[in-house]
Amino acid sequence: MLQFDILIIGSGLAGLSLALKLADKRKIAIITKKSLLEGASVWAQGGIAAVLSQEDSLAEHIQDTLTAGAGLCDPATARYVIEHAKPAIDWLIGQGVPFTRDANTDTGYHLTREGGHSHRRIIHAADATGHAVQETLASKVLAHPNITLLEHYIAIDLITGNKLGHTHNHCYGAYALNSLSDEVSTIAAHDTILATGGAGKVYLYTTNPDTATGDGIAMGWRAGCRVANMEFIQFHPTCLYHPHAKSFLISEAVRGEGGILKLPDGTRFMPAHDERAELAPRDIVARAIDFEMKKRGLDCVYLDISHKSVEFLQAHFPTIYARCLSLGIDIARQPIPVVPAAHYTCGGIVTDLHGRTDVANLYAVGETAHTGLHGANRLASNSLLECMVFAEAAARDILATPQSQLIPLPQWDESRVTDADEEIIISHNWAELRQFMWDYVGIVRTTKRLQRAQHRIRLLHEEINEYYANFHVTADLLELRNLVLTADLIVQSALSRHESRGLHYSKDYPDMLPLAVSTVLTPSA
Ligand code: FAD
Ligand code: SIN
Repeated sequence: MLQFDILIIGSGLAGLSLALKLADKRKIAIITKKSLLEGASVWAQGGIAAVLSQEDSLAEHIQDTLTAGAGLCDPATARYVIEHAKPAIDWLIGQGVPFTRDANTDTGYHLTREGGHSHRRIIHAADATGHAVQETLASKVLAHPNITLLEHYIAIDLITGNKLGHTHNHCYGAYALNSLSDEVSTIAAHDTILATGGAGKVYLYTTNPDTATGDGIAMGWRAGCRVANMEFIQFHPTCLYHPHAKSFLISEAVRGEGGILKLPDGTRFMPAHDERAELAPRDIVARAIDFEMKKRGLDCVYLDISHKSVEFLQAHFPTIYARCLSLGIDIARQPIPVVPAAHYTCGGIVTDLHGRTDVANLYAVGETAHTGLHGANRLASNSLLECMVFAEAAARDILATPQSQLIPLPQWDESRVTDADEEIIISHNWAELRQFMWDYVGIVRTTKRLQRAQHRIRLLHEEINEYYANFHVTADLLELRNLVLTADLIVQSALSRHESRGLHYSKDYPDMLPLAVSTVLTPSA
C-alpha cells in the first residue's frame, strides 16, 4: 500500500495548482492516467477571465457570468470566484507564466475579448495559454521534494467507508491501475482530490483530449456524491473542420478580435440570430451554426479573419495560424471551415465553496466539479479561473482541518477474474456510445431521442458491468465504464428538465420556465 497525506487524481491546472499550494506542508501524490502534461488544461487557448483593468469591474464580470448561465448560476459562487480572480492571476504571474504583454494598457498585459464578456478581460499567452501555464507549473511540481508524480496510473475507484461497511462515508484513498505494468495499487491518503477534468469524450465530436472520459464524475457518483446539472454540455461553436484535424479548436478569441461567421457563399448569418452576433454567448452561437447547417445541408460554416494582417494573425494566433497552414488553410487569405463540437461539462460533482464533496475527506476541483459558477452555460475563459480559485479554497480547507487517521485498506481483489477472451466489445461499445450521444443528446434534443439514448445506455451498462465483473481491468474498460455512467447521468438530467435553458434545448419544451432550478441527482445507497 502506498501512503501519502494527500492524493490528487489528475494533473491538469486544478491538480497542479492544488499540489503546489499544499506541498510545503504535506506529502503529496499526483496520479495521472497518461503523462504529466496530458489533459484539457494544456490545450486551453483563449485565456483566463479576470477583472484586471481599471476600466472593468467585478460587478460586470459577475453579471456577464450570470447572464451566460441563464439564471442557473449560484450568485454567491460567481461572486466568490470573480473576487478571487486577480489574486489567482497574480499567483500565476509569480510562478513565472509568460502572459502576453501590451505596454499600451493600464495592466501592462494584453487583454482579449470573448463571447458574452462586456469588456476585454481575458489575460492570455498568445493562443496557447494552457501550454504556458501548465509548463510553468509542471516544472515547479517536478522540482518539489514533497510531490511524488505517478504517471500512467489510472484511478479505478475511491476507497470509502460505504464500501468498507462503515457507518460513516469517509474517503481513504483510491485503487489505481498502472497501465504500463498492469498492476493495481492501493493508495491511502488523509485527503483525496478528484481533479480529473470533464467528459467531452462521451461525444463523437469534441474539442477535448482523450483523457476527458468523466472518470471523476463516475468515481464520485459511485462513492456516494451527488451530481448536478449534467444536461448542460457546452458545444464550442468553432472546432476546425478538416479530415486530418482531430479535435482542433479555433479559439473564441478569433471572434473576439473580429472574426466573422459566414455561410459558404460568404453571407454573414449571426446578426439574424442575436444582436450580439459573433460575440453572443456560446450556446447561442453553437445553436445558430447547427440551425444553418441543418437547414442548408452544410458540412460546416466558415470563420473569416482574413481582413486582419498576417503580422497581426501571427502575433495573436501563432498556433492556430501554423496548424491551419499545415493543413493547407491560409487564414490570412481564406476563411476557416468550422463546426460545433462538445467542449465543456458544466455539471459535475456537487461541492461547496471549499471544494468539499458529500463524502468526508474527498474534494473535487476543476471541470469535474459542480460549484455553481457556470449555471446553464459557462462564460468563456471562466474555467481555468475556477480551477485555480477552488484549488486555493480546497488547499486552505485541507490545511485548516486536522489530519484523519490512516487505516489498513483491503488490497484490490483479482481472485475471481480472468483475462478477457475478446476486446472487440470494448471498442465497439465506445464507438456506439459516442455516436448515439452525438445523434440523440446533442445541441438540439427531443424527449424521444433522449429516451432512445437511455434505452441503449441501459443495454451498454449491463454488458460493461458483466465484463468488469469477470475480467482483469484495462484502461479502455475503465474509461468505457465511466463514459457509460456519465452518459447515463447526462441523459437522466436532460430528461428531467422540462424547459429549454442555456445549453439544454429541447424541441418538446422550447420555452424557459420562470423558475430556475438545478438538476441534482443523488446516488442510491
Ligand atoms: P484537465 O486539465 O482535463 O486535467 C484532468 C487530469 O486528470 C488529466 O491529467 C487526466 O489525465 C487526469 N485523469 C482523468 N481521469 C483520471 C483517472 N481516472 N486517473 C488518473 N488521472 C486521471 N477554459 C478556459 O478557461 N480558457 C480557455 O482558453 C480554454 N480553452 C480550452 C481549449 C480547449 C481545446 C479545451 C478542450 C478546453 C478549454 N478550456 C478553456 C476549458 C479548460 O481547459 C478546462 O475546463 C480545464 O483545463 C480543466 O482543468 P482540469 O484540471 O479540471 O482538468
Ligand atoms: C477558446 O479559446 O475559445 C476556449 C475558451 C474557453 O473554453 O473558455
